[in-house]
Amino acid sequence: MKLDIDFVRTQFSQLDDDPEFIFAANAGGSYVCNQVNDLMEHYNRHTRVQPYSRFSSSNDAGKAMDRAKQLWADALNIELSELTFGPSTSINTYVMAQAIGANWKSGDEIIVTNQDHEANSGVWRRKAKEKGVTIRQWGVDLVTGLLDIDSLLPLINANTRWVFFTHCSNIVGTANPVAEITKAIKANSNAKVFVDAVAYAPHHICDLKALGVDGYAFSLYKVFGPHQGLLYVNREVTDDLTSQAHYFNTGSPGYDYNPAGPQHAQIAACAGVIDYFNDLHRHHFGNSAAKLAEKMNDLHDLIQAYENQLGASIIDFLSNHADIQLIGKTHTNDNDRAPTIAFKPLRQSSESLVHALQDNGIGTENGNFYAHRLITDLGIDPEDGVVRLSLVHYNRQADVDRILVELDRALN
Ligand SMILES: Cc1ncc(COP(=O)(O)O)c(C=O)c1O
Repeated sequence: MKLDIDFVRTQFSQLDDDPEFIFAANAGGSYVCNQVNDLMEHYNRHTRVQPYSRFSSSNDAGKAMDRAKQLWADALNIELSELTFGPSTSINTYVMAQAIGANWKSGDEIIVTNQDHEANSGVWRRKAKEKGVTIRQWGVDLVTGLLDIDSLLPLINANTRWVFFTHCSNIVGTANPVAEITKAIKANSNAKVFVDAVAYAPHHICDLKALGVDGYAFSLYKVFGPHQGLLYVNREVTDDLTSQAHYFNTGSPGYDYNPAGPQHAQIAACAGVIDYFNDLHRHHFGNSAAKLAEKMNDLHDLIQAYENQLGASIIDFLSNHADIQLIGKTHTNDNDRAPTIAFKPLRQSSESLVHALQDNGIGTENGNFYAHRLITDLGIDPEDGVVRLSLVHYNRQADVDRILVELDRALN
């Protein structure tokens, strides 16, 4: 079965705004599906009051929020009490650094990478320094930017408390085998595992119990939804963490790791992403009694095959071009390469290439994308950074063909 791209594109009204424009900067923030816009509009027009009281608009508001929470918990195969919606992933990890780090002491160790976005790096490093905790860095291959599990294992020991890494770098675009890495960490230590999935979730909503992680975070504004960060904290680790809620809310699901408080309309509208995925599933597989998490896996197979095809010709073009340094894998054969494609032009700045692409209708960007450590360690100037073309499953082969024409022109 193939992804019905025509159906997909009817679900995103912004795609109709300018048919000539190719949006290839999805990793910065995706278009919003119609289901989300409808829920957001409904909330703002009819239930824009403090939720969870008995009068009808307030009761409806609370129900809309509860529906979103339950749908996301089911999609991720987690319990409601393990789910937090916060304003963004950066603030969620910042809060988690306070919650996780409160009990750290001198002699403890943590492992971080130089592959991550700073949101899953700086907060842990800063807290570790404050607490006298040893920071070990799981370093990338300095040419490809890839992480190798063999270089992680020697860093783990009896003092390792937490390991923080990314499901998929927003630059390298290759998914790390999270389940395998987590299993190896747990076989060699009592360490807990926290994963940043911001660059992976737009391509696959994962079953978190199957991954075996203790913390997992991603941003719904990159997954066709509102500007919200979604955070999972495994209930088996919460006894080790310090609640960041008002004292009287300690232990209340959704509050322990969100001192900002819930953003009502945004949370309610998050249900629309799952409504979209449900519609997409029904369109391809018919009515199904499968659990939501299973539907997410069905969709993943469909989307991955489609996205592999989208990414392959761009990756092929760039990896065979003499004037390009491509970051990450040079093929999609391993089924782990998202179409998030970053590269450095060798005979011009990233900025000048991006300007040429933008002037010809390709929405793309250059920079370090807050993966400052990675870009620097790869020997690239972090100001000019890399060019990043990032596609999702609503992009078309016709978009790829245009990108290739414009790339060729801009490079010559
Ligand atoms: C891989 C990755 N992690 C974390 C973040 C931070 O997410 P947020 O913007 O929700 O704070 C981003 C944002 O671009 C990202 O790409």
